[in-house]
Amino acid sequence: MAVHLVVVQGLWAILPAYASNMLATVVGGGAPVDGGRVWTDGRRVLGDGKTWRAVALAPLLAGLLGLGLHFVAPRAGMGVTDFGPAHWAFVHAYALALGALLGDMGASFVKRRLGKERGARWLGPDQYDFIAGALVLAFLISLITTPFVGYVWFLEAFTLGPLLVIMILTPALHLIVNGIGYLIGVKEVPW
Ligand code: CTP
Ligand code: MG
Repeated sequence: MAVHLVVVQGLWAILPAYASNMLATVVGGGAPVDGGRVWTDGRRVLGDGKTWRAVALAPLLAGLLGLGLHFVAPRAGMGVTDFGPAHWAFVHAYALALGALLGDMGASFVKRRLGKERGARWLGPDQYDFIAGALVLAFLISLITTPFVGYVWFLEAFTLGPLLVIMILTPALHLIVNGIGYLIGVKEVPW
């Protein structure tokens, strides 16, 4: 299969995760998820960069975007995935989007334990935490939906080619998107 098609398929399938991560910076703010609490090491559990508003709103909006992608998929062609049968599409897209923020929060937890302040740079996890969280949660949820859907949606959408594309292109995309976020002022640091 032509490489450019695989690139489109990979980015298409993971878009709800990217969107959720990006939207979090836009809609985030207010009460922190950790409620300001500190861990046994005296440092914040997650920090002020992880807020309830982002967790509640970003996956919802990104899930709706996924639902939009789902209905556009047949017309888009190029072998892009839908998100399962219509009444499960939002569930699958939402799983990717929520998983992205959970992965991001898991990384913040570890960052704080390593003594890295909010916004400190952590090359590797900063680029991949949300992708890992998105893929893991979407896989688990699609195992749960399998009896209703009739197949494992995750394995249809994330075949080896698209997965490789996501792994290879994510660091570069992350850099570009966060650079733009920094320039337009929604992110405090460009990573
Ligand atoms: N954000 C949020 N809630 C989340 C994730 C992100 O409110 N669950 C918002 C915060 O305003 C955060 C910004 O999006 O500052 C950028 O997210 P991220 O880079 O993940 O957070 P950092 O501030 O860099 O904090 P950390 O060091 O914990 O990654
Ligand atoms: Mg960060």
